[in-house]
Amino acid sequence: MSDKVKIAFFDAKDYDIASFDEANKDKNFKIKYYDTKLDADTVKLAKGYDVVCVFVNDTVDEKVINSLYKKGVKLIALRCAGFNNVDAAKAAGKLGVVRVPAYSPYAVAEHATALLLTSIRRIHKAYIRTKDFNFSLNGLMGFDLHGKTVGVVGTGKIGRVFIDICKGFGMHVIAYDKFPAKDVDFEYVDIKEIWKRSDIISFHCPLTEETYHMVDAKSIKNMKKGVVLINTSRGALIDSDALLEGIRSRHIGAACLDVYEEEADVFFEDRSGHIFEDDTLARLISMPNVIVTSHQAFLTREALTNIAQTTLDNIEEYLGTGKCVNEVTV
Ligand code: NAI
Repeated sequence: MSDKVKIAFFDAKDYDIASFDEANKDKNFKIKYYDTKLDADTVKLAKGYDVVCVFVNDTVDEKVINSLYKKGVKLIALRCAGFNNVDAAKAAGKLGVVRVPAYSPYAVAEHATALLLTSIRRIHKAYIRTKDFNFSLNGLMGFDLHGKTVGVVGTGKIGRVFIDICKGFGMHVIAYDKFPAKDVDFEYVDIKEIWKRSDIISFHCPLTEETYHMVDAKSIKNMKKGVVLINTSRGALIDSDALLEGIRSRHIGAACLDVYEEEADVFFEDRSGHIFEDDTLARLISMPNVIVTSHQAFLTREALTNIAQTTLDNIEEYLGTGKCVNEVTV
């Protein structure tokens, strides 16, 4: 079966191609890599293919789904966990939709930690200084993590790994989750306590109507002065303008952002040399106590290997049996 299956792979980056070519050695699918994203204009490229493989910023709405269906495409294979960019309800009965629900919680939790340490020990500043043979320490004073209180919002796969890391640093962990786990070795509190007591707050919950802008002007006011915020979850958990104001007023001590609410048109691409249109993001990036990475937390060798392997397994299972353990059902 495998050697006849054709996959149109959209928004392909070099690191995707390397990991999928490696995983495909056992499968022998025919993969055509397109660097363009899938949308209503590019859907014609899927003609003659059995599967489209897509990522977080491809647009798979009703129009695209109907067009894929007419072209004989059978399956939309997401190579990520989130599927908010695919109208799965409209695909039902026409095309299958599969995804990769988990690939490496360590990748994301470790990146959150890397951002935290970089920020509070001023590594981003020190790196630039020593590159220029500037060995002055003025302005680089940080603080110990040991003994500090960290508030973790969302105690699923990634949040739990992050909690273990924080415990290793000797931090006191408090956590909030809408669906708290049983038998835990940390303290659950309500969200108001998280705001009130935390020196550092890290977000590991999904973006939902409830969590949209959970960090806004009001919640920031209730946080400790000097709080460090870490967001490796989804950008829209934080109202970016309120965050900027919190930084400006010096109420927020630092922000570590791997995600941003308007990231879709900006992240993953080289925008250097372009006039940058997003004033809020530009201002945040200009702040000495804000670190931005461009949705990079997942990007480890182990995670990419798991993503490629699971995606190709999903395709094989769905096309072979008509169903898949990682199918998106609505
Ligand atoms: P998970 O599903 O294992 O855990 C999510 C946790 O959030 C669950 O314990 C759930 O009960 C809790 N939760 C749900 N609604 C909540 C609410 N209203 N308030 C507080 N907690 C709530 O998910 P996992 O794998 O730990 O991923 C967490 C998030 O990390 C994902 O939703 C995703 O947005 C983000 N992510 C970011 C990546 C990156 O590269 N930056 C990569 C992968 C995931």
